[in-house]
Amino acid sequence: MLYFMIEFHRKMLADSVRNAAFVKALKKVIVPGKSVITDIGSGTGYLAFIASALGAKECYLYETGDVLELSKKIAQENGIKNCHFIRKHSATVKTPPRADIVISETLGNFALEEHILENLLDAKRFLKPEGVMIPQKIRQYVVPVTSDTIFREVQAWNDVDEKITFTAAKEMSVNNLYVRTITPKDVYSGPDAIKKWDEIDLLGNEKSKRSGDVTWTMHAPETIHGFCLFWECDLLTGITLSTSPAAPLTHWEQLFLPVPQPIKLRKGEGLSLKIQSDSSYNVGINVRWDVESPSGKWEMDMKKGHLN
Ligand SMILES: C[S@@+](CC[C@H](N)C(=O)[O-])C[C@H]1O[C@@H](n2cnc3c(N)ncnc32)[C@H](O)[C@@H]1O
Repeated sequence: MLYFMIEFHRKMLADSVRNAAFVKALKKVIVPGKSVITDIGSGTGYLAFIASALGAKECYLYETGDVLELSKKIAQENGIKNCHFIRKHSATVKTPPRADIVISETLGNFALEEHILENLLDAKRFLKPEGVMIPQKIRQYVVPVTSDTIFREVQAWNDVDEKITFTAAKEMSVNNLYVRTITPKDVYSGPDAIKKWDEIDLLGNEKSKRSGDVTWTMHAPETIHGFCLFWECDLLTGITLSTSPAAPLTHWEQLFLPVPQPIKLRKGEGLSLKIQSDSSYNVGINVRWDVESPSGKWEMDMKKGHLN
């Protein structure tokens, strides 16, 4: 577990695309000697320490994990003295000091799985009236997957042994999300292939339950093996991170949503998809995806994919 956590943070900190975008955003808004920063989910403290190096007056770091102790050591090692380390979940903080800038990198492979939406909705309490929130917007996208590589991996139950069938196990596997690297050559490339299914204003009054309906009309015969989910996140206007298969690589990967069987579509035939998610603190994360094509209808739900 401990190895896992340091590895989680090492991978994040090694992501130069991610780091550069956050540094650029901080540079844009910090007023040296004046800005007070709150970092929600501070991890190793990197974002707060960069803010401090850029001249922030004071930084408040909120972190639930043991990594807070590590961040204290890193501050000491670097002679950083204007940080307050608070071992608390931000939602449990009763009267937070108000900051000029609230920053939170609690983005997951599925954008909302680490509760960035809930964290930032609540974090408005931490912000001065004219304060700035980083990030500000998330857009979620989906594109059909034409390659069969991950589909075959999910269906591996078919090939275990010719004497035993694993239908119930396979059913569970189909009701899960897979974090994988999906490249542009793996996805449908017809016109309007990429659909936006959700848009989140982190400064607004958004709900943890998200829902989006999208449809495609095939421009050529295709076989669909699932769907690829990815996101774009505006840290500030004009400073955007993306997990698109076509974007520069980050430590985040794309998500594969399987279908139970290959869906063969002729030119002109339609495919529709409804995606629903719930990232409320008490749920954790749940995603459901309903697919309809001329050859059938399927309903997948992470709730059906659990084995305790
Ligand atoms: C993805 S890491 C990012 C760490 C660091 N901000 C960085 O950019 O390198 C998110 C961290 O936030 C913590 N976390 C998530 N939500 C939190 C919350 N609401 N309050 C305090 N800690 C939180 C997790 O324990 C984890 O260490």
